[in-house]
Parts: sequence; C-alpha cells; structure tokens
Amino acid sequence: MNAGVVGIGRYLPENIVTNADLEKKMDTSDEWIRTRTGIEERRIADDDIDTSDMAYRAAKAAMKDANISPEEIGLILVATVTPDAPFPSVSCRIQEKLGAVNAAAMDISAACAGFMYGMVTAKQFVESGTYKYVLVVGVEKLSKITDWDDRGTAVLFGDGAGAAVIGQVSDNRGILAFELGADGTGGKFLYQDEYIIMNGREVFKFAVRQMGESSVNVLAKAGLTKEDVDMLIPHQANIRIMEASRERLELPLEKMSKTVHKYGNTSAASIPISIVEELENGKIKDDDVIVMVGFGGGLTWGAIALRWGK
Ligand code: UT7
Repeated sequence: MNAGVVGIGRYLPENIVTNADLEKKMDTSDEWIRTRTGIEERRIADDDIDTSDMAYRAAKAAMKDANISPEEIGLILVATVTPDAPFPSVSCRIQEKLGAVNAAAMDISAACAGFMYGMVTAKQFVESGTYKYVLVVGVEKLSKITDWDDRGTAVLFGDGAGAAVIGQVSDNRGILAFELGADGTGGKFLYQDEYIIMNGREVFKFAVRQMGESSVNVLAKAGLTKEDVDMLIPHQANIRIMEASRERLELPLEKMSKTVHKYGNTSAASIPISIVEELENGKIKDDDVIVMVGFGGGLTWGAIALRWGK
C-alpha cells in the first residue's frame, strides 16, 4: 500500500504587507530585503483570524479537493508553532469545526519542518491500514510572535496555511522515500521567548548544508537520480538558501518552486502553499517526481520524494 496526497488546499490572509510598508515602520529597505531574502511582500492575518481559522479554511479546501467527508478522516495532524493557545490543540479545534467526529487529533511541533514530519507520520498510519485518511495541516500565524522592533526577523515572516489529505494512491505513486532529522544542540539559534529570536547567520549555514544533503539523500533512498526530479519544493525561507539546494540538485530555475517573494517565510505552511501554487500554474502533473525539503527551529529537518497523483 502506498500513501500519497489525495487532496490539497491552502488559505492565505488577504492583507498584503509590502517591503515598502515595512520601510515606514522600521529601519530597513526594500532593496535590502529583496537582495538578502528574495521577499517582496507577505500576508498578515487580521487580529480576528487566529491559527485555527486559517487551518480550518485550508483543511476544508483539501477535503473538497479529495472529495471526502469529515467522518472519513481517522487522524488530524496540525504542524504549527503558533497555536491559538497551548491547549486545546489546533487539531482539536478544527476537528470540531470540520465535524471530523471519528478523528483523533494532535499537534506537531517541528517548526518549519513540521509539514514534513506530519506527512511522514500520516504515511505510517495509512500504509499500516490503521486509518484510511489522515489530514495534515501546516499553519502559522507568525505575526503574533514577531518582534516588530527587530528588523533582523520582522521582515522575514508571513501568515498562512496549507493542508493535504493523505490516503492510499495507486502503485508507484505517493511517498517514495523520506528523511527526518533533529539536532537539539542547535536549538539556541532559533527559538521563541515571547518573540522569535534568531541567529540568522548560524541558521543560514545549517540550512544551506542540510537542505542540500537531505535532498540528495532522499533521492538516493528512492532509487532516483537528479535527472528524475520534475519539481523541487524547498521550504520558502530565503531565496539564497533555496538556490543552494537547487544548485546541489543541478536543477534548472524552472524546476524549483518559488513563492517566497509573495508570502515570505510561512514556516510549516510554506511547502503545501507552494505545491498548490505549482498545481495552479500547471507545473505539477500526474507522475511527476517532486522533492520537498524543509528545515527549521529545533533544529529539525525533513525531506520527501513523492510521485504525484492519486
Ligand atoms: O525558517 C527558518 C527561519 N530562518 C531563516 O531562514 C533565516 C536564515 N538566515 C537568513 O536568511 C539570513 O541570515 C538573514 C536574511 C536573516 C540575514 O542575512 P545576512 O546576509 O546573514 O545578513 P546579516 O545578518 O549578516 O546582516 C548584515 C547587515 C547587518 O548590518 P551590519 O552589522 O553589517 O552593519 C544587519 O544589521 O544587515 C543588517 N540588517 C538589516 N538591514 C536592513 C539586518 N536586518 C536588516 C534589515 N534591513 N531588515
């Protein structure tokens, strides 16, 4: 039995904050943000939209795409570091709203690698035959833990949600291989203490190394080569980090998904948001091989090689 994506959706807040808007609030410039990060604008959720509201909307879209009813979901996994409150979990909150009365629910804390952790966990439950469908959501309202007086982090992040329904897909499709990892010794480089605190240079160095290595490892585990890759979906943290993983896989520009310029770094949501974008652009088709790779606070990382299609 192979687990894969049988439905996918996303939600992005409507409110756009451009680099020019940030120039008015802090000592920064559009030029600095663009050249150092590739970010041009990001979405920031209104005060009355919390993490679970975004998660719910993305989940609804994914379930519609999968054409399943809420009762069919066996497990809800929500990857987030910005829950509405420590408990009840975001997954329990959306379980109620969705009416997923047969689903167990728990949140996953693996920062920007959270969606990779969620997908891999879902795969285990689907392939063991335990649950027919697992709903995985990556969602973040990073704006509520951003220190708007710290230009070193405030320019980077955005809010949003992406969701996927994981279920059985046909032979040869679905998740072909994965790699997950963690290194708690690097926790001091990126953490929350009321607000996000980050040593940008250290995270950058780690990310460039890990994104490249994990992409290469996951392809080898799947028995594939760089030439087999149709689309690389890197965590959208910084265009320079993303470029490093593209170069490591020797892929042309058009084979790397780029949404960071529009949405900034949405942490656990960035990979599913980008998949939806590429589907809408017609750049992911059935039987395409896609490589997803993420890294984040913890430190954590994860990569998945997947052949697209039900
Ligand atoms: O999902 C994981 C989340 N984290 C990341 O992905 C972050 C990874 N790290 C990075 O992306 C980069 O390290 C940053 C984009 C955060 C910073 O880029 P950098 O090239 O490493 O710049 P830097 O930290 O070395 O700073 C260079 C200069 C400094 O000025 P001085 O000391 O050279 O005078 C900073 O004070 O840029 C200054 N600076 C800014 N200037 C204008 C830092 N932030 C800003 C800003 N606007 N927003």
